[in-house]
Amino acid sequence: MNDNSQPAAVRARGIVKSFGSGDTQITVLKGIDLDIYLGELLLLVGESGGGKTTLLSAIAGILDINEGNIDVLGVPLSALPANKRTRFRGQTMGFIYQQFNLLPALTAAENVAVPLLIQKVGRAEALRRARVMLNRVGLADRTEFLPKNLSGGQQQRVAIARALVNEPRLLICDEPTAALDGPNGQKIMELLREVGRSPDRCVIVVTHDSRIFHFGDRMANLTDGRIVNIEQISQEGTA
Ligand SMILES: Nc1ncnc2c1ncn2[C@@H]1O[C@H](COP(=O)(O)OP(=O)(O)OP(=O)(O)O)[C@@H](O)[C@H]1O
Ligand SMILES: [Mg+2]
Repeated sequence: MNDNSQPAAVRARGIVKSFGSGDTQITVLKGIDLDIYLGELLLLVGESGGGKTTLLSAIAGILDINEGNIDVLGVPLSALPANKRTRFRGQTMGFIYQQFNLLPALTAAENVAVPLLIQKVGRAEALRRARVMLNRVGLADRTEFLPKNLSGGQQQRVAIARALVNEPRLLICDEPTAALDGPNGQKIMELLREVGRSPDRCVIVVTHDSRIFHFGDRMANLTDGRIVNIEQISQEGTA
């Protein structure tokens, strides 16, 4: 378990993010300071529209911020040019989107293989590893299905397998259990916790699902663009 003596994998300071301009401008992140440590699973909770997805996109370097600094694994993300940022993201991060973002023309296994193909892993090896990962999320019998022929929960598990397949050091998950029933949600969280327990990896999970809170090491509450509270989660009674 994390005791915060580990170095921070993510160090965000003074993050401000606005959308729009002039009269219609809204400031969604109003000065966020947040550390995510190696070896931990951090939960991010808060009201709908509070800025959670926006913050994840900023940490992933997908979204430019107006003010502040974000270091990921010691690299000043905000200072990197876009092409280097994209490459760095591909090598170090996995992202489970709130919308699953599966490619409709590709099978489950091909979707999961995409991050490996981008990293120039050969097609046969990429598909082999994709099928191993699909097996781990309980979809061994669905590897050749197209997304449209999968249930919402199965699509979500494909998206989770895709985020895990290249063994990212920073795993960013936006409501990963939203489309899953209780048992499948627990199974996925066990997988994510295993990743978060690795000493050189960490996981951030946005969730509204109180059934999975006990899988976290810490919980940060993002409300109205600010982190209003961070608490350590008691691990009593959990495996
Ligand atoms: N590209 C955009 N352009 C304009 N406004 C945006 C954009 N993206 C997000 N917003 C606004 O930013 C606010 C925060 O959105 P965000 O998606 O980060 O919330 P959230 O905390 O993830 O909510 P939820 O729990 O419903 O997913 C919302 O008011 C939203 O309308
Ligand atoms: Mg969101």
